[in-house]
Amino acid sequence: MQNDRGQWGSTTGFILAAAGSAIGLGNIWRFPYITGQSGGAAFVVVYLLCVVLVCVPYLFAELVLGRFSHRNPVGAIAAIRPRSTWRLVGGLGVLTGVCILSYYAVIAGWTLGYIVKGIAFPAMAFETFIATPAYVIPLFAAFLLLTMLVVGGGVEHGIERSAKILMPVLLVLMLLVIARSLTLDGASAGLEFYLKPDFSKVDGSVVLAALGQAFFSLSLGMGAMVTYGSYLPKSSDLRLCGLSVAAFDTLIALLAGFMIFPAIFAMGKSPDQGPALVFHTLPDIFAEMPLGGLVSIVFFVLLAIAALTSTVSLLEVVVSYFVDERGWSRKRAVWTIGAFTFVLGLPAVLSEGAVDALSTMTFLGASSFLGIMDFLWGNLSLALGGLLLSVFVGWVWGTREAGEEFRTGSKMGSGGVALWALFVKFVCPVVILIVLLNVFGVL
Ligand code: TRP
Repeated sequence: MQNDRGQWGSTTGFILAAAGSAIGLGNIWRFPYITGQSGGAAFVVVYLLCVVLVCVPYLFAELVLGRFSHRNPVGAIAAIRPRSTWRLVGGLGVLTGVCILSYYAVIAGWTLGYIVKGIAFPAMAFETFIATPAYVIPLFAAFLLLTMLVVGGGVEHGIERSAKILMPVLLVLMLLVIARSLTLDGASAGLEFYLKPDFSKVDGSVVLAALGQAFFSLSLGMGAMVTYGSYLPKSSDLRLCGLSVAAFDTLIALLAGFMIFPAIFAMGKSPDQGPALVFHTLPDIFAEMPLGGLVSIVFFVLLAIAALTSTVSLLEVVVSYFVDERGWSRKRAVWTIGAFTFVLGLPAVLSEGAVDALSTMTFLGASSFLGIMDFLWGNLSLALGGLLLSVFVGWVWGTREAGEEFRTGSKMGSGGVALWALFVKFVCPVVILIVLLNVFGVL
């Protein structure tokens, strides 16, 4: 069943591809708007704590599980506990992958549209643009198709090659935009909002938002990193791999804040506009820049590419499941799942103003069909998956065997492994459980 599998060409290739999965709309679109809604700097502090205390140890667990088994999330669990119900956790991950992909590709389609919109119809409001089915449906379909083409191309050539070139270019362009944003008159109020914490704003829902965002941003909780880790050779250093991915991802998210908040305050707008935040703010910054039109095109091209390396990882998890476990060919898996995702995503495309009933629905504080999907799958399901998988690795598989696998290929001492074991067994599950119970009002 290994015939259509592959392997990364090098550790750098893995780091760039995994960072490519992690870095995406989650960093540049979702992180700033959630920070803006959740009170600014205090949220950033809670977010960083979640990354360091929960997500990094948990990321190691996913990579260890993947490299040990050389399988997709379901197969990885089955390789350790055959025929146990734990395989359902892998199944939840595969399902979560399709569901996130179905609305993520919608937003990615908007970024594709913004490549042209800044030049062709600069005056059209963001709200009008996303409410027009004739724009957003074809863009959504186009984005899914691009994702399918890359995933169809296989692990090394398709996924790895695209990530290697494009991630560094994105970083340079962000630095340019930050330079403009910081030099606008009145930018300092934005820096204060972003960097000076007011902890009275932190409550249970802020902590859930931070934890969910950290999982989402690092592509955790659904087995994406299990799958990417499964293409690593035994000689790779998992600690180095995990730390590099987490560091790159966090850097890009923090930089996105430096692009947005100084400009928002300089232009006298409010930081809590929600999902529209980045789409409102960036064009305003570009308008204030020399060669702004050109910068806008390049920026949205890169944003679309960053989103593409993320959608690729979402689809890859689902494809690898059907290839490994069901014996499908890669092509068949890509086309079948792609078509299914398109249908699943239609209500999300139409829920931003096109169809009233979909646009006005609310659930547990989330609004619109797309917003609800994001809350259910991009937040709750990832946290739940993280809870279950850390229990699986820490307690069911056991940190003795998992720790052995973790050490293979790295020069880590037994102290490092013991510390990691402590986090996977206790800190990760307990923190996630408390946050989840809190959301459902149990605490
Ligand atoms: N991490 C990506 C982002 O920040 C989104 C993403 C890709 C993802 N693969 C994932 C999120 C797997 C959760 C799980 O944009």
